[in-house]
Amino acid sequence: MAVLKVVKYPDKVLLTKAKEVSQITDADRRLIRDMIDTMHAEGGVGLAANQVGVLKRIFVASADQEKGRELVCINPSITKRQGTIKEFEGCLSIPEFYEPVRRAKRVWVKATAPDGKALEIKAEGLLSRIFQHEIDHLNGILFVDRLGLIKSRLAKKKLLGK
Ligand code: NI
Repeated sequence: MAVLKVVKYPDKVLLTKAKEVSQITDADRRLIRDMIDTMHAEGGVGLAANQVGVLKRIFVASADQEKGRELVCINPSITKRQGTIKEFEGCLSIPEFYEPVRRAKRVWVKATAPDGKALEIKAEGLLSRIFQHEIDHLNGILFVDRLGLIKSRLAKKKLLGK
């Protein structure tokens, strides 16, 4: 077990698009285990590889925060969105900052599991929000980028202490 350091805003790695994983190696599987440990240690419901300084398209999620029931998605993509819903959101890389974010209510996500099997998940509620938030991370996008122009600017000024 290893708890990794979570990278904080405005570190560049959070603003960079992660790369596709072409082959899942033992090192990737170790990284995934460490990401799961880190997510739980930090009390999070999701963690993207960018957040531990690794630019690979991998995220872990745990909507119920129950150990052993985590979801791992490699090379995820959203294939369908339905509805919209606005709810408060936070991020382990932006501590103590919460704002309502408009997201799709339901999403259909395709990904690869650590054992190489194809995953297709329909997500609603918190899991849907986690999926969208984490896939954003893999694209170098943070939830503060999703607040609308004026609110985004104000949020970033505040976070940078300007
Ligand atoms: Ni986040």
